[in-house]
Amino acid sequence: MNFKEELRIRTDYADNVVKEFLPKEEGFNKELCEAMNYSVNAGGKRLRPILLHTFYKLFGGDSDIVKPCMAAYEMLHTYSLVHDDLPAIDNDNYRRGMPTTHARFGEATAILAGDGLLHQAYETFIKIFDTEISTRTVKALKIFGDKTGINGMLGGQSADVLHTGEVISDELLYYIYEKKTGALIEGAMLTGSVLAGCNDEDLAKIKRVGELVGLAFQIKDDILDIYGNEKKLGKPLHSDEKNNKKTYITINGIEKSEHDIVVMSEEACDIVSSLGNDVEERDFIIKLIKYLTDRTY
Ligand code: IPE
Ligand code: IPE
Ligand code: MG
Ligand code: MG
Ligand code: MG
Repeated sequence: MNFKEELRIRTDYADNVVKEFLPKEEGFNKELCEAMNYSVNAGGKRLRPILLHTFYKLFGGDSDIVKPCMAAYEMLHTYSLVHDDLPAIDNDNYRRGMPTTHARFGEATAILAGDGLLHQAYETFIKIFDTEISTRTVKALKIFGDKTGINGMLGGQSADVLHTGEVISDELLYYIYEKKTGALIEGAMLTGSVLAGCNDEDLAKIKRVGELVGLAFQIKDDILDIYGNEKKLGKPLHSDEKNNKKTYITINGIEKSEHDIVVMSEEACDIVSSLGNDVEERDFIIKLIKYLTDRTY
């Protein structure tokens, strides 16, 4: 099977898992649940649940225990996008090929839908305890907390928002990218690996892979914001310029940015090539990293 087919199968699987845990649209909170489900059902690459599942299998995992965690990462990521698009933040009206949640349901409902997805993510994650309460499941929840909160995605996103328009140091730029984007990618990789029983030495290597892939992924996102294809990306171009963002590209130029993505992606793939015991999963991860950092939309 070629990589594209393999990716489609894994994306469909992740998509079905995520949908299993979405709330029912009924009762007095029907409109809230519709708005929550709208943004998740709009699509997306499902990158975080795919990574979580693949790293789980890389270290020999073979049960359904990871399903709630896969869904939780995608819900949390989607909440971050719903809030990122709000008028007070990036003020974008198009996401995953559809009007953004606030454009479709109004701003108040979009704020609540983001909150709803954040809560649903945690309620979903802890369903893992219905199957097993153990050191590995507790460790997985702790990673989720670390990577999503003020020292994770939210910390990076808030530094990004609060320093918009300012000249920022390289150190702060790395902090923003590593946290707002890297944290969930790293968290997904670590969660899958921990649940499969991966040792601490390998976890440290995976953390580095997550950081590198997260940075490269965000720099690519910034490049595509300028040079991408709006229809294929499913989100508007020139959002960063509109918001007067200082990005890796405005600071380092396009050539160095493209070059650094390749260097980061190669280092990440090198580390992955020494990890785990499933050759097929390892091969898929390496191809996925290259695909993400080479993509033109
Ligand atoms: C977009 O993430 C926001 C960033 C962290 C750059 P994705 O590019 O993974 O968005 P979806 O999930 O495919 O919509
Ligand atoms: C946002 O970065 C990352 C999040 C935590 C949501 P961007 O603002 O660049 O993401 P896009 O380009 O809107 O997807
Ligand atoms: Mg943003
Ligand atoms: Mg944005
Ligand atoms: Mg962007």
